[in-house]
Amino acid sequence: MMLDNELHAAREATGTAAKDGAQAYYDSYTASLADPDRFWGEQARRLTWISPPTRIKNTSFEKGNVSIKWYEDGTLNVSANCIDRHVATNPDKVAIIWEADNPKAPSRHITYRELLEETCRISNVLKAHGVKKGDRVVIYMPMIPETAFAMLACARIGAIHSVVFGGFSPDSLANRINDSDAKVVITADFAPRGGKTTPLKSNADAALLHCSDKVKCMVIRHTGGQIHWTPGRDIDLTDEMRKAPSYCSYAEIGAEDPLFILYTSGSTGKPKGVVHTSGGYLAYASLTHEVCFDFQPDDIWWCTADVGWVTGHSYIVYGPLANGATVLMFEGIPTWPDAGRFWDVVDKHKVTHFHSAPTAIRSLMAQGPEWVDGHDLSSLKMLGTVGEPINPEAWNWYHQHVGKGKLPVIDAYWQTETGGHLICPHPYGTPLKPGSATTPFWGIKPVVVDAATGQVQEDMGTEGVLCIADSWPGQARTVWGDHARFEDTYFSQYPGLYFTGDGCRRDEDGYYWITGRVDDVLNVSGHRMGTAEIESALVAHECVAEAAVVGFPHDIKGQGIYAYVSLMRGVEPTEELRKQLETWVRQEIGPIAKPDLIQFAPGLPKTRSGKIMRRILRKIAENDHGTLGDISTLADPGVVDDLIANRMNRG
Ligand code: WTA
Repeated sequence: MMLDNELHAAREATGTAAKDGAQAYYDSYTASLADPDRFWGEQARRLTWISPPTRIKNTSFEKGNVSIKWYEDGTLNVSANCIDRHVATNPDKVAIIWEADNPKAPSRHITYRELLEETCRISNVLKAHGVKKGDRVVIYMPMIPETAFAMLACARIGAIHSVVFGGFSPDSLANRINDSDAKVVITADFAPRGGKTTPLKSNADAALLHCSDKVKCMVIRHTGGQIHWTPGRDIDLTDEMRKAPSYCSYAEIGAEDPLFILYTSGSTGKPKGVVHTSGGYLAYASLTHEVCFDFQPDDIWWCTADVGWVTGHSYIVYGPLANGATVLMFEGIPTWPDAGRFWDVVDKHKVTHFHSAPTAIRSLMAQGPEWVDGHDLSSLKMLGTVGEPINPEAWNWYHQHVGKGKLPVIDAYWQTETGGHLICPHPYGTPLKPGSATTPFWGIKPVVVDAATGQVQEDMGTEGVLCIADSWPGQARTVWGDHARFEDTYFSQYPGLYFTGDGCRRDEDGYYWITGRVDDVLNVSGHRMGTAEIESALVAHECVAEAAVVGFPHDIKGQGIYAYVSLMRGVEPTEELRKQLETWVRQEIGPIAKPDLIQFAPGLPKTRSGKIMRRILRKIAENDHGTLGDISTLADPGVVDDLIANRMNRG
C-alpha cells in the first residue's frame, strides 16, 4: 500500500492542492447515495442548460421494466457545452493540440474559437446534405482533430454519431452502418499510424458495397493520397467545409435524446450498439474527468486511447472539452519511431496528465526504463491507467519510472456501458494499492454477488461477480433497436442489479480488485472482443467445420486469443492454412482479432448434449492441463488427450 506520507509528498511535489480533501471526497460519496436527487440535481449545474431539468432521477432496474432516465425534462446542446460557453469566456485558449504520427510533421493548435468554426462548418455540410436530428452518422476516421469536429458537429444538430475504430475491417464497418441505419459515413483518405497507413476510404468503399446505395460518404483529405471516387455518393468534406459558413446555431436537444451509439462486444452474437444520451452522460463524463484527475484549468490533458473506443469519447472529447480543457490528441503509437515517443510528446507539449492503458505500459516496460529515464517529464502531475486490470509489476514500473516514485496512479475501472468511471481513487484522498481500482466514485453502489447462489455478499473481504445496485447519470440507456437485449444482457442474471460481466474481489479495506471478465468476452490489449465473433469469422472460412476461441494469459496484451479449429473432412492442417486463417480473421473483423495461436483439433470436447466445454479448452490454452477436473460428462473423453498432446502454448 502507498503510505499516506508518500501521498502528501506527491501532493506537494505536484504543487496542486486537491479541491476537496479526502474527508470531503468521502462525505460527498455518502451524500450521493443518501439523496441521489439532491446530489445529482446539484451536479447538473456544471452544465449549461437551455431549459434546466426539474426532474432528476427516474430509473428502474426491474426486469421487464428497465428504464433509465436522468434530467428528463431538461434541454441542452452538448456541443454548446463543449465549445460555445468556453468561446464566450476564453476564445483563444487551445482546445486541441494535435501531434501527428510522423514526429517531424508540425503539430496543430486549435483554439476554442477555431473549434467552434470547424465544428459549425461540418454541421452545415451535414445539414446541406439532409442530415437531421435523430439521423445516424458513422464516423470512421484517423486520430485527427476533424474526428472530434465531426462528433461535435453531429451533437450540434442532434444527429447521433457512431464512431467505428479505424482498425475495423470493411465487414465490421458495414455491419455497424447497417445496424444503425446510418445516412452518412464520414471518413478520411488514409489513417497513418506507427509509420503504416490504413486505407480508410477504400475500406469504406468495400463496406458500402454491402449497404444501401442511399448512404453518402464524406471524405476528409488527410494525407492527400490517391483514392477511388464514386460521383453522386462521395462528398469532398474538406472542400465543402472550406465553402460552408463558419457558424451554425445549435439545436435544443432533450437530455434523454441519444448523443451516440457505440458498438461493443458481448458474450453472444454480433456487437451491440450501446446508446448514450445527452444530459446525464455529459454531466457524468465532465464530473469524473474533473474530480478523478483533480483537473485544473491550465492543465494539459493527454489520454492515449483511440476516439473509436469509449475512453476516447468520454476522456478525449466530451469530458475534457465540457470542462474547457486543453486536450492533446496523438495520431501515433507508443513504440514508433522508437519506444521513447510517448515521453517525447509529454516533454514537447508539457503534458500534466497522462492517461494510458496497461498494455501500453507493459510493452514499454519490456523495452527497458532507459527509454523513459532520459526525458524531462517534470510537467507531469498525475498518471492514469484504464481498460484492463493492471498487474502490480506494471503499476510499480509506471509509478517509479514515469511518475518518479511521486505521482499518483489513477486506476479507473469502467465500461462502454457505464459512460464514465465506476471505481477509481481520488488522486490525493485515497491511499493507493497497486493493482486495485480502489473505491467507488460518487453515486456508484457496487455489490459483490456469489455467482452460484446469486446472493449479495455483505462481508468486506469477499469475492464474486461485480454488480451495481442503482443507476448513475452516465449509464447506457439501451441497445440500439433492441431494448430486450439490453435487459437480457445486463439485468436478467441478478434481479434488480446491473451486471458488469466482471469478476472481482473486495478486500478488508473495501477496495475492489477486478479479476477480469466472467463471460465469453476477451480483453486483448485493452480491446474488448467476443469469442463468439471470432468463432463465427473462423467458421465462415470454407475449410473450417467448427471453432472455439478462448483467452490465455499474455505478457503484453493481457490476454491472447487461442483458437481451436476443426477442419472440414479431407482438408489437411498445414502451416499455410494456419496463416490463411489468421489473415482471414483480420479481414473479417480487423487486425485486433487475429488469433495468436491456432490449434487444429480433430474434435472439440463436448457434453453429450453437444455443448462445448470451454473450461477444458481454457485450461489447455493456459497450459494448465494437469487439473482438468471432471471430464466424465464428455461425449468422447478421448479428444482431450489429443488436445493436450498438440497444445500450442507450452510456456
Ligand atoms: C475491463 C473500457 C480492470 C473490464 C473503459 C471491463 C478494467 C471492460 C479496467 C470494459 C480497470 C476496464 N481494471 N479492468 N481499470 N477498465 N476494464 O467497454 O473487464 O472497452 O468490463 O471499456 O474492460 O471494456 P470497454
